Amino acid sequence: MIKSTTTLSRRIFFKRTTAICVGFGTILVALITGRFATPSKKDLRIFQRVRVCDEAQVPILGVKSFEISYLQQLRQMTQRIFLVGQGMDTPPKALSAICTHLGCQVEWKRDQEAFVCPCHKGTYAMDGTVLSGPPPIPLHELTLTVLPDGAFVDVQVG
Ligand code: FES
Repeated sequence: MIKSTTTLSRRIFFKRTTAICVGFGTILVALITGRFATPSKKDLRIFQRVRVCDEAQVPILGVKSFEISYLQQLRQMTQRIFLVGQGMDTPPKALSAICTHLGCQVEWKRDQEAFVCPCHKGTYAMDGTVLSGPPPIPLHELTLTVLPDGAFVDVQVG
């Protein structure tokens, strides 16, 4: 009689242990697959291609300032950007004019060959890298596409 109870207890013990292990395993698999099945926030970003200028206006060497307009959540947005020509062998790039410190608008100072922020005197090189001051990271670069019918940048709208 006692032997039978001990066997039964072991059976129940193993059943419960197995059930707990299977439960934890199921939860673990669900967490892992859920993590990789769900797209990251970066994947959910929405971009809009915005026309900047004619192809001929893209600088080969030097900096030109442009204002672009687009709709974001039914609101008309305007943003200043810079097209930077880096010579014949290097493709031009588009930089945001928004300072990465606290969001003021930087200006291109030809005499200094630098973008200068009027708020806290942060300076950036022609390629957008930080030269001095409080900006923590370079100017944000926008994807620039130059086609025969114009130059376009991809602006995040969502
Ligand atoms: S906002 Fe540009 S340096 Fe502070």
